[in-house]
Amino acid sequence: MSAFPVLHHHLLFLRPRLHVSLRPLSPRLLRRRLLFSAASAQCFSSSSSFSSTAPRDDIDEVAEPPGFPPPPESGRETQQLIDVNPPRGTRDFPPEDMRLRNWLFQQFREVSRILSFEEVDFPVLESEALFIRKAGEEITQQLYNFEDKGGRRVVLRPEITPSLARLVIKQGKSVSLPLKWFTIGQCWRYERMTRGRRREHYQWNMDMIGVPRVRAEAELVNAIVLLFERLGITSSDVGIRVSSRKVLQAVLQMYAIPECLFAEVCVIVDKLGKITKEEVEKELMSAGVTSEAVKGIVEVLSLASLDKLEAVLGADVEAIADLKKLFSLAEHYGYSQWITFDASVVRGLAYYTGIVFEAFDREGKLRAICGGGRYDQLLSTFGSDDIPACGFGFGDAVIVELLKEKGLLPDLGRQVDDIVFPLDEELEGQASMVASALRRKGHSVDLVEDKRLKWVFKHAERVNASRLILVGNSEWQRGMVRVKVLSTREEYETKIDELS
Ligand code: HAM
Repeated sequence: MSAFPVLHHHLLFLRPRLHVSLRPLSPRLLRRRLLFSAASAQCFSSSSSFSSTAPRDDIDEVAEPPGFPPPPESGRETQQLIDVNPPRGTRDFPPEDMRLRNWLFQQFREVSRILSFEEVDFPVLESEALFIRKAGEEITQQLYNFEDKGGRRVVLRPEITPSLARLVIKQGKSVSLPLKWFTIGQCWRYERMTRGRRREHYQWNMDMIGVPRVRAEAELVNAIVLLFERLGITSSDVGIRVSSRKVLQAVLQMYAIPECLFAEVCVIVDKLGKITKEEVEKELMSAGVTSEAVKGIVEVLSLASLDKLEAVLGADVEAIADLKKLFSLAEHYGYSQWITFDASVVRGLAYYTGIVFEAFDREGKLRAICGGGRYDQLLSTFGSDDIPACGFGFGDAVIVELLKEKGLLPDLGRQVDDIVFPLDEELEGQASMVASALRRKGHSVDLVEDKRLKWVFKHAERVNASRLILVGNSEWQRGMVRVKVLSTREEYETKIDELS
């Protein structure tokens, strides 16, 4: 997996202009010009931070054709330093950040394994058609979309669920349900940046396909809670708010609002808290919802408990039965302290049809840590038969903010088993032999040369090396190397072929 953003800054690809001679060149000069051009082209392609200040005495015969700026008076070619920052909202991952990312992904993978999910993967570049939806979702307005060189409309995916649905359809009847899949991948959204929200982020997704019962939701919430527990986060730090879109569906039915407005209404209602109540009401009415129904929706969404909801909607509403089931299963799983009913959770994606959930820090400082729900009808929007489906997406950015906030970031130093150092330049071959033998045994070995011994000791501390193996002349003559165990400071000589 690349540690660099997929989208590179265009400035990285700026090439300095080569000057064109108008006067015929002598064969000698021509040859020198060609040699220089080849060399400079090589420089530009191999270095991303090239700044040429090399003397250009060999092209002093160059004259500029009309339309080209004159060459610098000194005869030197200048190149502005490129912008060394990645595109706004994207990240580089230098080694320490990469260690943290790998550690987090390892936790995601471990929880997925514990829940018995299989890993899948999809291209970051997808067909735009997969993400064209009419419900007015923010995500569809934030697409990184463009035409490729073959004239196809493509996007850098903003989420993974449509790709997963595509693969489920592609695999068709060849797979036996239920599927329990997880994936970790980069997503792109041209988003307004706030704390923990970026233009690219990695998402851990877990999805269950083919499970119509609330068991699927209960398993997925179990995975999220397990992850939090592994990270040292408690239920007093984070809560998972749960509701069901069937609540809204029931309200719309009460007011005889056509079914076709359901997804759009959900997307608008999700904006409560982001824009004013009046603006939400206005949007609902311009979507075709009567003012009475708007009042009803707003009222229901402010209900604070499942009992109150039941009193308004009646006990035989599916939403109530589903939510009760989830809360009852939560007791058995032992995570009920993590989840609360919150009628205002609707989620901003059009395809959810049933239970929806989002995890938030209880202090309310950050955006949603993760979110998901049931989407039983997404497949039919792609022309296939529907299969019940449920899942969540868990980003890498908000959780890291929370871990920082709580002082729970792990101390992830570099870890090297052995440092091999020849005490004499002539022993580089022997040091290579030692390093190679240890690497064959699976040790991580840093072979260090051209440094002073003092530097090597400091370096060993910096990279948390376990041992320092010094290859010296007199020891080598006797078939030995000197070993220093860094944790105990113990030092001894050992036979080369007994080094383990
Ligand atoms: P979502 O709520 O749009 O859902 O995103 C899921 C999570 O991804 C968010 O809770 C957040 O952690 C992270 N996330 C989203 N956008 C950004 C951003 N711009 N910067 C940083 N993190 C972000 C979905 O994407 C659904 N497809 C999830 C799902 C899977 N539903 C069912 N299966």
